[in-house]
Amino acid sequence: MLAPSLSPASRMGHFRSAGPSRPAPALPAVRGPLTYQLFGALTDRGRPLAVPADVSSDPLADDDLQLALYCCYELHYRGLPGVEEGWEWEPSLIAFCRTLEAAFESQLRAAIPRSQVLPADAGEALWSLTRNDEGPSLSGWLRDNGTLAHARELAIHRSGYQLKEADPHSWAIPRLGGRAKAALISIQSDEYGNGREKEMHASLFAQTMDALNLNSHYGHYLDCLPAPTLATTNLITMLGLHRRLRGALVGHLALFEMTSVGPMSRYSDWLESLGVPAAGRAFYDVHVEADVVHQHIAVDDLVGGLLQAEPALADDVMFGAQALSLVESRFTESLLTCWQNQRTSLLQPTCERAIPYLVAGGGR
Ligand SMILES: [Fe+2]
Ligand SMILES: [Fe+2]
Repeated sequence: MLAPSLSPASRMGHFRSAGPSRPAPALPAVRGPLTYQLFGALTDRGRPLAVPADVSSDPLADDDLQLALYCCYELHYRGLPGVEEGWEWEPSLIAFCRTLEAAFESQLRAAIPRSQVLPADAGEALWSLTRNDEGPSLSGWLRDNGTLAHARELAIHRSGYQLKEADPHSWAIPRLGGRAKAALISIQSDEYGNGREKEMHASLFAQTMDALNLNSHYGHYLDCLPAPTLATTNLITMLGLHRRLRGALVGHLALFEMTSVGPMSRYSDWLESLGVPAAGRAFYDVHVEADVVHQHIAVDDLVGGLLQAEPALADDVMFGAQALSLVESRFTESLLTCWQNQRTSLLQPTCERAIPYLVAGGGR
């Protein structure tokens, strides 16, 4: 539960307790048959990793599948605690992972109609996506109703991506050329703080977590993240790891940049109203400033340059953008459903390992 009887100050105390005394990094808790099989194989060389025979028909909502996929993907980023690095390209793990991501991609393809947009019209089609989003606004709801407890939960949800912000989109760099490549480098340079560690957007997000008295160690809250949250990161990683999906990765990044300024501005104002200091709001303020510029580079030069070079990728660009809209709307629905019913949006009971104060039985 959100523990309404706790004052903000006492909640901070509980969060602080997750820091210095945290246990040694470990694999997340098992959530079901997929993570049981995966974690068993990763920690026991003798245990085989077979291709799953049965995969959910709703991967976007499957906590077990999304965590298994996230952990397979994590081997391509920072690795997993106690897991040999050779697992990254182990054939049985690749086959296991491909089964999960095939189910995930199939669900997205089934839900998103083919756009059949002309390459010259893709930019306008992307702008119309930003105008036609009729779903509830997470930043708007939080501005009107959000508390410090909500701010912490949101930061925990977003930590799965923001602590490695920009990394999966960087996989597009070697796959692009000319104008599109230059545009991507221009955007990514800002995302990585133009070479200054403290200004990297991932560093600024860690600063926000610190200001909220959260634990900003990479991966600390993985046990707390439900399927709709993990799906937002798994989507980008899937698009980033597959060269065939480079058009979708570009479309995803473009819509990311085009839908950032308004929400980031609202989050900054909201956090200020809650008394979060400037250092904790810098992540949002920097995005307001940067993405006013990035959104146009993304549409005009990144998408425009890609489709000038490879016009056949126009549909893929739109697929990536629409997939982002879909997973973000499922994410927003997941959080607001819990919060409007006075429940935590974090995954229980596994989250209790990362945040011991959470009361069992309080919701997800
Ligand atoms: Fe950023
Ligand atoms: Fe940006």
